[in-house]
Amino acid sequence: MSYSPDEWQAVAIAATIGKTPRRILLSGLPIVLFRSGTEIAALHDRCPHRHVELSKGKIENGEIECPYHGWRFNAAGVCTVVPGLAGAVPGYRVPRLRTVVKDGVVFVARGEPEGEPYLHCAEGQKIILKLVESSTRSTLVDTAENILDATHTHFTHKGLLRGLSNERQRVRVDVSGGPGWVEACYTGEERQHGLISRLLEGDRVKTIGRFRAPGIAELEYWGPKGLALATTFHLRQAAENQVDGIGCLIGPRGGLLDHLKSLAFRPMFRIALEQDRRVLTSASLNAAHWPEAAPIVGPLDFLRRSIEAIMAGALPPVAEKPETFYIEL
Ligand code: FES
Ligand SMILES: [Fe+2]
Repeated sequence: MSYSPDEWQAVAIAATIGKTPRRILLSGLPIVLFRSGTEIAALHDRCPHRHVELSKGKIENGEIECPYHGWRFNAAGVCTVVPGLAGAVPGYRVPRLRTVVKDGVVFVARGEPEGEPYLHCAEGQKIILKLVESSTRSTLVDTAENILDATHTHFTHKGLLRGLSNERQRVRVDVSGGPGWVEACYTGEERQHGLISRLLEGDRVKTIGRFRAPGIAELEYWGPKGLALATTFHLRQAAENQVDGIGCLIGPRGGLLDHLKSLAFRPMFRIALEQDRRVLTSASLNAAHWPEAAPIVGPLDFLRRSIEAIMAGALPPVAEKPETFYIEL
């Protein structure tokens, strides 16, 4: 799965990078993140001397010290100290990545991205924002599809998200897309038959599931008064079978996520995440027994081909011709 070096990629919650360095993976490339003054630095996690993991070292005055011979590198990746050397330090370097922190999320880019990174769908509005990190054995396409797929919720999340009642509602699904994005808009499901919605939500006007390059899956739940709740997941193929994600939970101030409700919501959200993690892991491990078998793209898998196209750098098929479906949810 490719990742464009010129795009910002969310890689960590900034609060998880404290006094010690942290190693993350970006399409298989190990990166060390550490605090240097007010910024967060990102370098290839490999000391150029004997290739030791810099992330196993420590931070001294905003520089990272290799645990083997103590060479130090600053936020720009320049070697500043070679312990024991009497003369000037030769100009050794570790490749570095651009970083920016936006609302508590660390983004990195290998190239030169233009502008600010996109964080979530309610930027600039008065909202409550909660962040979570997760890691799943899967592929980016499978994980994004899972987040945006409504039809697994009756089973994988029975009771919690849907499936509390056997009754299904006739729902209209409008699928549209453009360069780098695709979305499905669901109307006609006035109430979602799951614990979370029953406890916390009023009437539903529409639900939108959207995928954006380079790996962002977002859900928006709209009520009569506007956006009631949204989740934006920044996914990345950390390694061949590992998808890491930063999830943003967004609710308007005074709304769902506020006050007491967020206390009830967060644990339930974590349970739902764990249920998805389990089913995706199981599918990934099982699929390895049939390496030649292609999965069926069924009539309700509205977004799959578009997500695959976007990840391959192509225009999603629905960009040419938006589609409408009627399903029972
Ligand atoms: S391996 Fe890093 S200082 Fe020698
Ligand atoms: Fe799910």
